[in-house]
Amino acid sequence: MASKAIVERQITATSIQRDEDVLAAAARLAGEDLCSISDLSAGEVRAILKLGHDVKRNPREYRYALDAKQMVLMFEKASLRTRLSFESGFSQMGGNAIFFDQTNSPLGERESIADVAKNVERWVDAIVLRTYAHDTITEMAANSRVPVVNALSDFEHPCQALADFMTLEEHFGYSRGLNFTYVGDGNNVCHSLMLTGAQLGANVTVATPRGYSPDIEIVTLARERAEANGCEIKLTQDPQAGVEGADAVYTDVCVSMGFEHESTKRAPIFRPFQVNEALMARAASHAVFMHCLPARRNAEVTDAVLDSSQSIVFDQAENRMHAQKALLLLLLGGLSY
Ligand code: CP
Ligand code: NVA
Repeated sequence: MASKAIVERQITATSIQRDEDVLAAAARLAGEDLCSISDLSAGEVRAILKLGHDVKRNPREYRYALDAKQMVLMFEKASLRTRLSFESGFSQMGGNAIFFDQTNSPLGERESIADVAKNVERWVDAIVLRTYAHDTITEMAANSRVPVVNALSDFEHPCQALADFMTLEEHFGYSRGLNFTYVGDGNNVCHSLMLTGAQLGANVTVATPRGYSPDIEIVTLARERAEANGCEIKLTQDPQAGVEGADAVYTDVCVSMGFEHESTKRAPIFRPFQVNEALMARAASHAVFMHCLPARRNAEVTDAVLDSSQSIVFDQAENRMHAQKALLLLLLGGLSY
């Protein structure tokens, strides 16, 4: 563990840490939760992305920013990217992450979620949760004095969407005005992408089969925010029309964790929504392909698209770590002012 003097010498504020959005976000978000992208203002979304780019460029500047902090990851579902990107990113900033597997013992079963929160907050500085029910996350947040972060629920995947728009900014140099099309199941990942795009001024089109549209409350909220930020949220059930001229085409699995029993029913419904070369040909010639992963190859996306030069899926996966480092710096007061 580094001494306080060393820590203070090591953290030198980069210019981005003096950015207006970052300063405001650092003041407002310290000690807060991230249950949903809707918890964040437009400036706070921009701040996380700006800081994410800086963390990626200058990792050594943040080497001791969360020195000796403790974080627990409590996961009811499987994970590769989320678990490892949180663990690696946190330890890169001097913190220690503890993985607590809840796959065989869902939260709230052995003791109440409130009681879990009131214990865990005594030992750690942050709680990262991957759950089935979104309510598990909001209940933990309501009962915990330390920040709670949603690492995927049945309703949202905010850390994913932050990394995805960071990746778009990296690729295009901006996010405002981008035409972003999501094709597939209108659930957790789609919800967070809609809300994030709306806050950043991106035009978001969502093409889903009938019966799999995004939640109406998310649509309403995303549209309100889009209007305030000068962009549009459109819904369609026609994937061809939805991707016409898009700068980015994004899909997710059509059978999310917890819905495996619906696999047979969903396969024919989602087949026309597969992202293949013919569908990508309707997007702009410079369009990128995106997927949160894990992908079911040749189901929602073909190998030809997933492995093409248009695919930026592994940049998205890498940026999970940088965006989450930025988020944790803000929630845990890790910047030097
Ligand atoms: N995209 C994502 O959250 O991946 P994992 O399920 O592997 O964490
Ligand atoms: N929608 C998917 C995302 C996985 C990262 C799921 O919930 O399983």
